[in-house]
Amino acid sequence: MKALPKRLVVLALLLAPCMPGAAVAVDLHAYWDDRCKACHDDAGAFARRTLRVEDGRLVGAHHREDLGRFLHQHYLADDLVAPVTAMLIAQATTTPLFKSHCAACHGDAAALARKSLVLKDGVLTGKVSGRPVSDFLRTHGGLAPGEIPAMTATLQRVLGEVGAR
Ligand code: HEC
Ligand code: HEC
Repeated sequence: MKALPKRLVVLALLLAPCMPGAAVAVDLHAYWDDRCKACHDDAGAFARRTLRVEDGRLVGAHHREDLGRFLHQHYLADDLVAPVTAMLIAQATTTPLFKSHCAACHGDAAALARKSLVLKDGVLTGKVSGRPVSDFLRTHGGLAPGEIPAMTATLQRVLGEVGAR
């Protein structure tokens, strides 16, 4: 019986990343591509086309009042309803700058984040240049200066959504 508590501790550690409120360890974008994309295509385009945020709540074109309950019964692992909802809220409420200015060369933002981005002391940084992204984008990607903070914030969110810490 002595081994049991230890095993429970290990189990708790394994489950910890799935607990509500804990940092998300899964790659939400890979999850979407695997489980949702066949029917809904790109998450960002789907969110902007179909979903809205009203009083901080995500609202669907069909599922207005019951979207949360609907998602619990709709292909989504229970643990992922909250983080996927947060991702869709962010997408539904931001301008698709990446699509218009970067996607032609970089594919999707998740791919760029996995390959090229890292947080260094809390600052979003390019892996190759070693430069802060907010600085790098002043001479790369053709954004207006006023668009750079939003783009940087989006890429930092996406880096979190692909499971980087
Ligand atoms: C086999 C096809 C299919 C897959 C896979 C699928 N969906 Fe859906 N989804 C639908 C259909 C069809 C509807 C509309 C159904 C309805 O309104 O009742 C829908 C509706 C939705 C809505 C609500 C849209 C609205 O306007 O109210 C959301 C949000 C959603 N899906 C998210 C997801 C997520 C997240 C995943 C992956 C975990 C996923 N779906 C996987 C077919 C699919
Ligand atoms: C004309 C093609 C092109 C466009 C448009 C473009 N990029 Fe790039 N980007 C590249 C190339 C080429 C590289 C260097 C090779 C690589 O890392 O893929 C690069 C590298 C990067 C890097 C990595 C920097 C590093 O230090 O590793 C980031 C971040 C980046 N781009 C962001 C963006 C963003 C955000 C946009 C849109 C606002 C954008 N890029 C638009 C071609 C492009």
